[in-house]
Amino acid sequence: MWTYHKLCSSNARLDNKVVVITGANTGIGKETARDFYRRGARVILACRNMEKARNAVKDIKNNPFLSTDNEQYKSQLGDLAIYSLDLCSLKSVRECAKKLLTSESAIHILVNNAGIMMSPHKKTEDGFELQLQSNHLGHFLLTLLLLPKMQSSAPGCRIVNVSSLAHVFGKIHFNDMNLDRSYGALKAYAQSKLANILFTKELAHQLKEAGINGINVYSLHPGVVRTELGRYYNRTIIPGATFFYYHIMRPFIKSSVQGAQTTIHCAVDKKVANETGLYYSECRVTRPQWRARDDQMAKDLWDHTCRLLHLEPDTNFSTFLQTVSHQLAN
Ligand SMILES: NC(=O)c1ccc[n+]([C@@H]2O[C@H](COP(=O)([O-])OP(=O)(O)OC[C@H]3O[C@@H](n4cnc5c(N)ncnc54)[C@H](OP(=O)(O)O)[C@@H]3O)[C@@H](O)[C@H]2O)c1
Repeated sequence: MWTYHKLCSSNARLDNKVVVITGANTGIGKETARDFYRRGARVILACRNMEKARNAVKDIKNNPFLSTDNEQYKSQLGDLAIYSLDLCSLKSVRECAKKLLTSESAIHILVNNAGIMMSPHKKTEDGFELQLQSNHLGHFLLTLLLLPKMQSSAPGCRIVNVSSLAHVFGKIHFNDMNLDRSYGALKAYAQSKLANILFTKELAHQLKEAGINGINVYSLHPGVVRTELGRYYNRTIIPGATFFYYHIMRPFIKSSVQGAQTTIHCAVDKKVANETGLYYSECRVTRPQWRARDDQMAKDLWDHTCRLLHLEPDTNFSTFLQTVSHQLAN
């Protein structure tokens, strides 16, 4: 039962900052966008459903403030823009990155928030299991493609990967990442969320080794939150599970505003400005399960992911980024 909702206490402003949030048309992503808009940022909602994205923008513009906001918040609002992004299509990820790189003068914060949970077994157009691609592979590629722009926007840049406590059930199935041999909806979700934490750890390590300063990386569990994430529960748990989650559990789980707080904390709070590669929950550093703390596993997942995406890993991270960018240009 959830009795505790830690709120981000930072009053930091984001004037003149550009923020990209994936899956920002609903749930935690939308509330994160609303918060950054109030802080003065140019907020880019990278979404696959344009109609939902337009409705989200309308809602945020009409209702930017929370009843709990202090006067400090009620100054200059930011700006909202929508970009098309379907993480289940690597072509769409590349196109979105290309547009962001050409149209935006800077990117200071990237929030890899979009996700699906416990979907039925299905493959994407690229041949990957749905949760693996939408939650891990798509964000991995998007991040690499946007990194050069973030490098030129540094210092003070942050990459925030929204993971989940469900990673504790996870294992990286290196020999069967798509889980073709034994698919389980929770098994696939947990693997993808463990991958988010390992990616955070290894990316922070790679940036440090390459001497690239001013870009910090964070992963987090947002809490158990009342959002659209339970859309597949009826099909993959038992009929009635979605009703149980949304109605019976309702008083015990977080609202989307509460669920966005740890993301916001990692993205803006000055207290974490010197931290990178760590995992957070309730706005503080938390210890993830042992696999998520394993340096070798983080490195192995990085290399394996590169192979899946046909990217040649390079011992020199800067050269690697250049190669990835060249692929985009061609
Ligand atoms: N809610 C929780 O209790 C909870 C707990 C732990 C972790 N999380 C994590 O929090 C994050 C946000 O989830 P949420 O709870 O806010 O769920 P949500 O309300 O279902 O929102 C998920 C967002 O991701 C988008 N999305 C899904 N697949 C996509 C794709 N292929 N390309 C682009 N966008 C895609 C959805 O877009 P559409 O509207 O177009 O589907 C939606 O905007 C997820 O990463 C989730 O794993 C949530």
